[in-house]
Amino acid sequence: MEFVVYEAKGAVGTITISREKALNALNSQVLEELDQTLDAVDLSTIRCLILTGAGEKSFVAGADIGEMSTLTKAEGEAFGKKGNDVFRKLETFPIPVIAAVNGFALGGGCEISMSCDIRICSDNAVFGQPEVGLGITPGFGGTQRLARLVGPGMAKQMIYSARNIKADEALRIGLVNAVYPQEELMAAAEKLAGSIAKNAPIAVRNCKKAINDGLEVDMDQAIVIEEKLFGDCFETEDQKYGMAFFLDKNKEKVKEPFKNC
Ligand code: CAA
Repeated sequence: MEFVVYEAKGAVGTITISREKALNALNSQVLEELDQTLDAVDLSTIRCLILTGAGEKSFVAGADIGEMSTLTKAEGEAFGKKGNDVFRKLETFPIPVIAAVNGFALGGGCEISMSCDIRICSDNAVFGQPEVGLGITPGFGGTQRLARLVGPGMAKQMIYSARNIKADEALRIGLVNAVYPQEELMAAAEKLAGSIAKNAPIAVRNCKKAINDGLEVDMDQAIVIEEKLFGDCFETEDQKYGMAFFLDKNKEKVKEPFKNC
């Protein structure tokens, strides 16, 4: 891979978009490499992913403007689909994905962060959807996910005005969960990922699916989705062990890692 680096440490995998000379902008090759990287994640051992960008300046500065500049209408639509397909794979990936936003998250960069389950950022992060200033709409899910995350009023203001926001404002509107000094960001992401990875894997996966699928339907259907995924956890070794551990009154006992079965 030329532009995507993957590293597994224990139960946490880190994907780094590494195209620093273009501030990690997403061209077709980066999108293809991301797709292949996700397909290659070993889900028997990895329980949480972190997505970040190389360097200290930019997470992802958007889709590649040079590549887009000469596209026809049909090619533009196909490029949008290429990004959307990868981002949807990330959004529906079986295990949680944390975006560690280490700088510019503009256009496709803001959009890829919104395909992740959780966003945390460095204090120099900048978020925005500058597309209308380039003569296009956000095309990798921005018109849909931003409105769902921060509400339609704030999303419309950001998208129509193409105004970028800094980390503190992103925190205030709920686009990110926390802001850290740049040098502490990855440690914070790893700590959060570790706290997720230590919990029962089937239960964590089912929580992700229940939240994601439930948000797409009305409450009557959503609670049925929850009931099925709740029921699915029973009879697993992790459920039996987790509950037996709680019920065991022996104070000397030490909790074993969950086994993913
Ligand atoms: N596409 C292609 N190249 C990009 C890029 C992008 N999105 N963003 C930055 N680069 C390149 C620059 O062209 C420059 O390359 P050269 O050194 O070869 O000239 C290099 O990265 C460094 O960028 P700057 O010199 O511009 O750095 P800066 O510090 O002055 O500015 C910035 C940083 C404010 C992020 C600025 O680069 C910028 O505005 N980038 C574009 C941001 C943007 O508009 N993103 C949205 C793209 S559209 C989109 O994403 C559509 C979609 O929804 C699918």
